[in-house]
Amino acid sequence: MVDYNVNGKVAVVTGGTRGLGLYSAEILALSGAKTVVISSRKEKACQEAKEYLDKVAKDAGKSCSIIAIAADLADEKDCKRFFDETAKQVDKVDILIANAGASWGAPLDQHPISAIKKVLHLNVVAVFQCIQLFAPLLEAAGTAEDPSRILIMSSVASISPFDVGGVYGYLASKAGVSHMGKNLALTLGPSNVTVNSLAPGFFPTKMSNGVLEIAGEVLTEGNPRKRLGVKEDIQNAVLFLCAKQSNYINGIVLPIDGGAHLGLLGSKL
Ligand SMILES: NC(=O)c1ccc[n+]([C@@H]2O[C@H](COP(=O)([O-])OP(=O)(O)OC[C@H]3O[C@@H](n4cnc5c(N)ncnc54)[C@H](OP(=O)(O)O)[C@@H]3O)[C@@H](O)[C@H]2O)c1
Repeated sequence: MVDYNVNGKVAVVTGGTRGLGLYSAEILALSGAKTVVISSRKEKACQEAKEYLDKVAKDAGKSCSIIAIAADLADEKDCKRFFDETAKQVDKVDILIANAGASWGAPLDQHPISAIKKVLHLNVVAVFQCIQLFAPLLEAAGTAEDPSRILIMSSVASISPFDVGGVYGYLASKAGVSHMGKNLALTLGPSNVTVNSLAPGFFPTKMSNGVLEIAGEVLTEGNPRKRLGVKEDIQNAVLFLCAKQSNYINGIVLPIDGGAHLGLLGSKL
């Protein structure tokens, strides 16, 4: 039997307080991670997620230390403070999941330029800054047999321009960040750090709930697998891409969408 695990690893998950980030933090805590650092802007959300993860790990008999640090990663100085505080509290970093992200939808003629800037900043610039800051620690921890891992939480929107609500900045940001991930895979690969992007389809979370309220049925019916994504879909992909067995996978954009990226809503007429 193949044992996929992250035994003894130290992981950082941005936006790890809810949704796909929390799913990712949870599977790492359950699969042997020594420490998982989570972050989001809200102190209360950080504490609640820490309590949840502490309990999940304890109930599973796992000894994983959860560290929660509140920071606004879209603020350059706060992003640096987040890195400094993390570096003070951990002895190494093996895994960075750059997951924090945001979206904005509005028709073309009403779409605020400020919203485009905000989305591009968090989804691309802040991801770049996190990777830039953490890269030296990741390089120090990686080995030829088991490189450190960067996972970028991109989106199926980086592959398919299908748009359910005028998310112009979001589509551009996710295409950009996936492409940046490929470039970073070339840059960091020789230093024993792999960089891969995940491209989830629609998963019910705070971010996607608005769209799913309007188009959930169409998106489910149009999906080749006839369902939306669930927690385990993200967790299995995260665990595989962080485990030793995937050490030769570098620079991919992995769709986790039931095949929806293959065509218009994935439907076969
Ligand atoms: N759900 C989907 O269907 C789907 C599909 C494809 C890709 N994705 C991607 O998956 C990632 C997570 O999305 P999600 O659906 O889980 O969204 P979510 O439930 O809204 O979670 C977003 C997380 O990011 C944090 N965050 C937002 N702005 C931040 C900032 N400026 N600084 C620090 N943290 C911030 C949020 O916490 P605070 O609000 O407390 O800051 C929260 O923890 C995003 O990159 C998204 O684009 C989601």
